[in-house]
Amino acid sequence: AQARASKAAQLGFKPIVGSNADAVVLPPGYTYDVLIRWGESLTSKVPDLDASKLDAGALLQPNAAEYQRQQFGTNSDAIHFFPLNGRSDHGVLCVNNEYTEDSLMFPGHPGLRGLRGGRSRAYVQEHPQVVPVAKAAQGVSVVEIKRERGRWRFVKDSRFNRRVTADTPIDIGGPARGAELMRTKDDPRGERALGTFANCAGGETPWGTYLTAEENIQDYFAKLDQLEARKDVDPFIIEAHRRWRMWKAQSLYNWDIADPRFDLATTPTEPFRFGWIVEIDPLDPTSTPIKRTALGRFAHEGASPVIAGNGRIAVYMGDDDKFEYVYKFISTNRFDPRNRAANRSLLDQGTLHVARFDASGKGEWLPLVFDPKGPLNAAAGFRNQADVLIKARMAAYLLGATPMDRPEDVEANPTTGRIYIACTRNENRTVEAGTTTYGGREIDTSPNAANPRSANNFGHIIEITEAGDDHTALEFSWEVFLLAGDPSGGRLITHLGEVKSDSAYYAGYANAADLSPMGSPDNVGFDRAGNLWIVTDGSQPHGGNDGCWVAPTVGPNRGRLQQFMSGPVGSEVCGCQFSPDDETLFISIQHPGAGGSTAEPRSHWPDGGSSQPRSSVIAIRKEGGGVVGS
Ligand code: FEO
Ligand code: CA
Ligand code: CA
Ligand code: CA
Repeated sequence: AQARASKAAQLGFKPIVGSNADAVVLPPGYTYDVLIRWGESLTSKVPDLDASKLDAGALLQPNAAEYQRQQFGTNSDAIHFFPLNGRSDHGVLCVNNEYTEDSLMFPGHPGLRGLRGGRSRAYVQEHPQVVPVAKAAQGVSVVEIKRERGRWRFVKDSRFNRRVTADTPIDIGGPARGAELMRTKDDPRGERALGTFANCAGGETPWGTYLTAEENIQDYFAKLDQLEARKDVDPFIIEAHRRWRMWKAQSLYNWDIADPRFDLATTPTEPFRFGWIVEIDPLDPTSTPIKRTALGRFAHEGASPVIAGNGRIAVYMGDDDKFEYVYKFISTNRFDPRNRAANRSLLDQGTLHVARFDASGKGEWLPLVFDPKGPLNAAAGFRNQADVLIKARMAAYLLGATPMDRPEDVEANPTTGRIYIACTRNENRTVEAGTTTYGGREIDTSPNAANPRSANNFGHIIEITEAGDDHTALEFSWEVFLLAGDPSGGRLITHLGEVKSDSAYYAGYANAADLSPMGSPDNVGFDRAGNLWIVTDGSQPHGGNDGCWVAPTVGPNRGRLQQFMSGPVGSEVCGCQFSPDDETLFISIQHPGAGGSTAEPRSHWPDGGSSQPRSSVIAIRKEGGGVVGS
């Protein structure tokens, strides 16, 4: 631990300052390769997307969806690297493709994400062929990559290359497999779903498989109003969809126009087949991915498995919505490092828990277990364990879990075992104590010990230490590691206008002049030395672009947060995955140019000139080699 701690102190790069440039900005001595862009074909059987023709309607053409099914997906998010033959310069990359930025894909499409007008529905009605394209552009891209003569590239036509889309058959595993709520007309046994989408962060298992997290699935399902009007529908189904804040007459993406699976009035139980963690074997391109229902159903941001001292697997997870919860799954059985196949069922048996953070600085993991004599019984809407997992958010609420400020990525520090939870922000956290109905339940929205700021515009990070440093423990202690904002207490720009910050806190690090302002921590990652790397989604204290920051978590520089990278205009920075030798940092540049259109792009990254912006994965390296951050 001593050697590791001293290595953690070796962050030697010169921090950058926040930037509005339409560029990837890095410290002196660093460079990056654009590893793969949205639309680059994984096989020579289909052409690359010609982005210069987007404004002319390239994606409205009859072959667009067929091509997209074999091209790299859009809006890359989580990244995980699976080495081939133990190498750091050759491996298989799994990348989430979270959602479509329709304004940048379909000309004349007014449907910016979050713009809830009726015109975008009219556009999809007129051009229903955009739905299969959007479905093919999401999910997961699996691609072989190599570093040659210093530069990273992807390997076209590799046997590992694969797309998993919103239409790929996926098995349902675990306690909800076959459950009544999981059955549909097309799948009367409730055993095989079609597709994965809204894939946000992710994780990798100790046995070398990829975990992809289904997050904002509610934005794809329409017509809750019609379902609510029906008398023949189990009221628990309607209540469950309200808890997820499903859409009434139309959804954000309007997929129901082209696919009845997304019409709640036609297929009321289809949403129960989404909102899960999906396991994919990147080394077996013919394998069927599996939804691991024992890990619960909520807006999963990621899933971070850890091997506990006793060989059981703990998986830490966040539910990214305002006032949602932090979860931990503990497997029943033990990891077997000598038998990869035997580990494939580890995530099907175990107990899901949810966190309650107490003001004392202690906390407890509360089991989500069906019990006729406990709070999770038939009177509360749970007939069996499958119901508890499918409606995990309701179960967590009934157990008294602590409502958090959008808990996103949750990850364990590989050197200390401590857990870090990124809470992006929550501007709805009230100034005064009070309750409100949010997501179909009444909750206390006033600040609590683990979410201490009202109108939390810039987010924070919580650090958990499990009792006895045991990942299967049900008690823990916790502290606020970081309250994001401007450490010098200057005036900050938020969506509400200028506010004064007097509450930024960086693990007690004393010298504010050393620190970089940061807001909206989203995904986190660790290098082998245990430094905490953070990428952001939204609101920065001085209005700069999203980027990447790093802070040691131990030693005299604990909490010394410094900015390492800034992303292009309109982009969100995601991923944050190191190669095994720490010499490459893989980052996703998601939705560059968001807020613009194909006719009027706000960004021309990565190709410059007058080109269309394209989400891409980049590989950041030190010029001449060396550990990233040194
Ligand atoms: Fe997809 Fe929680 O960000
Ligand atoms: Ca995210
Ligand atoms: Ca992560
Ligand atoms: Ca995000």
